[in-house]
Amino acid sequence: MADRIDEDAPPIELRGVSKRFPTSGGGHLVVLDDVSLTMPRGQTTAVIGPSGTGKSVLLKHIVGLLRPDAGEVRVFGVDMARASEAMVYTVRRRIGMLFQDGALFDSLSTGDNIAFPLDRHRPELSTRQKRERVEQVLEMVELPGLYDRPTAALSGGQRKRVGLARAIVMEPEVVLFDEPNSGLDPMTSDAIDQLIVGMKEKLHITFVVISHDIVGTLNVADRICMLYGGKVVASGTTAEVTHSDHPMVRRFLGRNLVLPEPGDPGVATLPHIG
Ligand SMILES: Nc1ncnc2c1ncn2[C@@H]1O[C@H](COP(=O)(O)OP(=O)(O)OP(=O)(O)O)[C@@H](O)[C@H]1O
Ligand SMILES: [Mg+2]
Repeated sequence: MADRIDEDAPPIELRGVSKRFPTSGGGHLVVLDDVSLTMPRGQTTAVIGPSGTGKSVLLKHIVGLLRPDAGEVRVFGVDMARASEAMVYTVRRRIGMLFQDGALFDSLSTGDNIAFPLDRHRPELSTRQKRERVEQVLEMVELPGLYDRPTAALSGGQRKRVGLARAIVMEPEVVLFDEPNSGLDPMTSDAIDQLIVGMKEKLHITFVVISHDIVGTLNVADRICMLYGGKVVASGTTAEVTHSDHPMVRRFLGRNLVLPEPGDPGVATLPHIG
């Protein structure tokens, strides 16, 4: 059934998904080419790969902002491209998304940005209940008391946290996080990673995290999926992927890590600097 939530289905499943975009020269650019992938419940999957390889496009398929040319994107068993509008809306209520650019409204206060999904989806809540819920998530992202701070006055790291707070305010089962660490210093970046790990453990959220930060990825991810040239070139547990013998995977990960040889049971380590 495409139009019913299946609580036993994996939260996210892509089957043979292809997507291409027309180019100005009259041709087309193949961005996803027969991508199949399952993201298990309660685990964090990192999607990695070079810039322009379709990571953000993949995420937009999961929330139904883009439709595949071929294949199926199932979220809680619902085929997002073929389901009714009402069902897509029901599924989206279970997903929190943090876009690559943060997408905060500078005209709203910090708290009102976080309350935005509640205003749309939870009309039964009173203003006071909404404020309480927002104060609660502000504490979770370690920004207590910032409800009335103008959004424009936030630092880059604070904006990421506010974006994360907005993504979790609806108590979603799935959170999609596009580049949580970009533009952050290593300490702030680590703090965001720790927040993700803590939330996964406490709230049992299924996270999908796109990241360029390979070292951080190993700290947060249970699984890694690497996209390259429109294809999934590696997918599995972090241990499996760091042991991959695919040359692109080794080249991509090996820029930041010392990888074990494919047959070697050892773990990837940080390079020795000095
Ligand atoms: N709506 C669109 N129309 C046309 N082309 C698009 C559209 N969205 C994305 N693309 C193209 O698809 C390709 C993949 O884009 P995407 O944003 O998914 O890359 P990415 O892997 O997220 O890269 P980065 O790491 O730089 O964020 C790019 O060439 C991009 O220009
Ligand atoms: Mg992107």
